[in-house]
Amino acid sequence: MTSPITTLSLVDTDPAELAVDAVVIGVHSQTGEEGDGGPASALLLASGAESIAAAFDGKLTETLALLGATGGAGEVVKLATLGTITAPLVAAVGLGPEPTGAAPAPETLRRAAGAVVRALAGSGSVALTLPLPDDGDAPAALRAVAEGALLGGYRFAGYKTRPQPTRRAPVASVAVHVPDAADATARAEIARATVVAGAVARSRDWVNTAPNELRPPAFADAVAAAARDAGLTVEVLDEAALAAGGYGGILAVGQGSEAPPRLVKLSYTPAGAAADATRVALVGKGITFDTGGVSIKPAQGMWEMKSDMAGAAAVAAAMLAVAELKPAVPVTGYLPMAENMPSGSAYRPGDVVTMFNGKRVEVLNTDAEGRMVLGDAMARACADGTDYLLETSTLTGGQVVALGKRIAGVMGTPELCERVRTAGDAVGEPAWPMPLPDDVRKGMESEVADISQVNAGMDRAGHMLQGGVFLREFVTDEVAWAHIDVAGPAYHSGEPTGYWTKGGTGVPVRTLLELIDDIAANG
Ligand code: BES
Ligand code: MN
Ligand code: ZN
Repeated sequence: MTSPITTLSLVDTDPAELAVDAVVIGVHSQTGEEGDGGPASALLLASGAESIAAAFDGKLTETLALLGATGGAGEVVKLATLGTITAPLVAAVGLGPEPTGAAPAPETLRRAAGAVVRALAGSGSVALTLPLPDDGDAPAALRAVAEGALLGGYRFAGYKTRPQPTRRAPVASVAVHVPDAADATARAEIARATVVAGAVARSRDWVNTAPNELRPPAFADAVAAAARDAGLTVEVLDEAALAAGGYGGILAVGQGSEAPPRLVKLSYTPAGAAADATRVALVGKGITFDTGGVSIKPAQGMWEMKSDMAGAAAVAAAMLAVAELKPAVPVTGYLPMAENMPSGSAYRPGDVVTMFNGKRVEVLNTDAEGRMVLGDAMARACADGTDYLLETSTLTGGQVVALGKRIAGVMGTPELCERVRTAGDAVGEPAWPMPLPDDVRKGMESEVADISQVNAGMDRAGHMLQGGVFLREFVTDEVAWAHIDVAGPAYHSGEPTGYWTKGGTGVPVRTLLELIDDIAANG
């Protein structure tokens, strides 16, 4: 498993005496009180900054304010320390207003840690002294800081043939200041965050890889090699095996490309697992490039469709983390991979395709290819036997229209959808439950087959819901399932923010891992 670029440790020595390149403190913004000329200072030092403040003789807040610090969330202001403390640089990261009577929310800390580690690129070693609660919330806060720091330090290697002199190297090592660096719980959180951030980095790398380098056979080989190294059981179905197995949906989408499709299955079984243990299946959409096929997409922005395998990347990366974290539940990942291309051999609107579970689908738009490959993979997961099925995909532009670039749409059995929402909230990957209405299913009745791939009149109303309603046809009744549409959140085309760098975000790797922990603990 690839490690994050940044390495992480704990320290409990006085931050003013740490021999690092930069010490980070938190600052809150203060909402001014009405009265004579507004607030005395707009800035408030967060807890953790005490010894640094003392070394500055009470002038730290003033100096930071002079340099423009307001404490706004994500803001970073750097100050040369000129011998006041051991480290040559202090960086103040904004945490927004101080919550009354509580420590900042984990996501506030996660984003702040990410933002400041990004801003400190060029520093070799950094120590973070952020406000951590001293109660039962401490492990979650530490986990958030650790994840944020590692994810903010992520950088994709890229393809430039010359080194870029103006690009500063990502921070090499981050030490998080805690009351007791030998504390077993704190050490376990650091270890877990390192594995989890490694998984997110891996999925970001796959998403950011150019699509000519990651066609289905290459993607399958890369996933299989990493999974074997991690000790997972690997099965790869090539085009001949897919034909023999009756995977009509994967083959239909894949037939337009010279690079044939694949279905990769990765299995993890905990040592001593009971025969009747609760089983989890993960399914991820692996369209290595989505041109739309014959129903071709417009040229503008089409390059972002290299990210249409983000679901598969997230599932593969989550499986690699599972192999290291060793949860007490068996977990199996399914990755259907195909390249959706227009060509003389491509599938076409009007085609009828027999899926792995025997259902016949009338194709109306070759750009709705994700549900074709996922239907097969989900039916296969059910045929293998599972109690929970979590599927994730960059499935519909409708998700982006409805919920935007940050919040995923979740459809499926209501209890599991609610658990996905809760897990997403805990890790900073928000997801919102969406319905599977009967009238949307009615609109997908086909004249000739069991179901239309999209609304029979190509009506885009309830676009995201059509995806969920279609996928439900490939899940057996006894299975609790959730479809997580991450078309928006899986890829970040804007400027870096918080712990999100440009390109693949790794969503929803951390939600999947959180849910696996939840299922392992609570069934
Ligand atoms: N991969 C796309 C969905 C997508 C859109 C992901 C934007 C990320 C950003 C998917 O295969 C697709 O093309 N969906 C169509 C479905 C339609 C043809 C029924 C869409 O959303 O327009
Ligand atoms: Mn498409
Ligand atoms: Zn697609």
